[in-house]
Amino acid sequence: MDNRQRSSISRMLSLIDGYLSTSLIYVVAELKIADLLRDGPKDTAYLAQKTGAHEQCLYRVLRALSCIQVFRESKRGFELTGLSECLLSDSPYSLLPSALYAGDEASWRPWGELLHAVKTGETPFEKVFGMDLFTYYGSHPHSSEIFDNYMDVVTKHIVRIILAKYDFSPYKVIVDVGGGFGSLLFSILAKYKDIRGILHDLPHVVQGAYPLRKEYQVEDRCEIVGGQFFDSVPEGGDLYLLKSILHDWSDEKAIAILKNCFKAMESKSKLLVLERIIQDDVNRHEGKALDIFMMVHTGGKERTREEYSELFQSAGFRLSNVVPLGVDCNAIEGIRE
Ligand SMILES: C[S@@+](CC[C@H](N)C(=O)[O-])C[C@H]1O[C@@H](n2cnc3c(N)ncnc32)[C@H](O)[C@@H]1O
Repeated sequence: MDNRQRSSISRMLSLIDGYLSTSLIYVVAELKIADLLRDGPKDTAYLAQKTGAHEQCLYRVLRALSCIQVFRESKRGFELTGLSECLLSDSPYSLLPSALYAGDEASWRPWGELLHAVKTGETPFEKVFGMDLFTYYGSHPHSSEIFDNYMDVVTKHIVRIILAKYDFSPYKVIVDVGGGFGSLLFSILAKYKDIRGILHDLPHVVQGAYPLRKEYQVEDRCEIVGGQFFDSVPEGGDLYLLKSILHDWSDEKAIAILKNCFKAMESKSKLLVLERIIQDDVNRHEGKALDIFMMVHTGGKERTREEYSELFQSAGFRLSNVVPLGVDCNAIEGIRE
């Protein structure tokens, strides 16, 4: 065996065992181990006592994570590294919600049925749980909270860049369709003091938006509306914003959402879809991994510019412009035909 083969085998083995790191990181995220190490190294007896965990098993998990630099093991116990600092709960860009999301039952169980999707075209999540993802979240508040917190963190990571690169000043009223906890809309309103907003999402989700609206001090300029975007979306906006919405759905469902936006909009209102775009260039990878998450969890997909253009057309819009925001996110603009 030559060096190239040896290195390929080693890399391939770590790819094959990918679920190992997801599971190990989920355990320490759930037990909030990083927070317990904030002030310096601690031994496993202390960590086990604080978390109620089985000392030997916890030790073996932390030791395995130290092999991939998530912790550092020494005679004094385990300590934080740059990687595990990302799991501190109070860091502004904490990845704790991402680790909790990856390990939640609703996230990982459908992956066992990816082969089923490839053979049949069916959605693994629905095979495993007998319902679609958002219906499941509606009746599983713990998983729903984990997902909404995760989405909120993902969005907070890119809000600064969206605000730096996209000019919202021409608009008076922005409707954020499926806006989750509202971080994006509230950040826009905090920057542009003359704009008003309407945040729309499922009734159980928008409950989580009230404290955040207060935090951003935009209570007087933003209405929060619970509802189903398959029934209708609020009227009165001159910009309809959909971030990470259309990729959750099949073409048929995505067109239904867009048609409801069309109905709610006035003739001069604009559509702004924030999504990844799959590029023709085989060396550009944006969205290609996330596309498989969509296959597994929602039955949606990431799309090319042409595919977005076709969706828009089917709902009465014309795709008028695409502004790359440079963070795996594009501002895809639409106007009513
Ligand atoms: C991927 S998340 C995106 C959230 C937010 N736009 C963001 O980027 O942070 C999809 C959102 O669509 C919402 N959603 C799903 N089904 C919905 C429905 N039928 N009506 C309204 N909102 C829905 C979910 O609750 C969730 O907040």
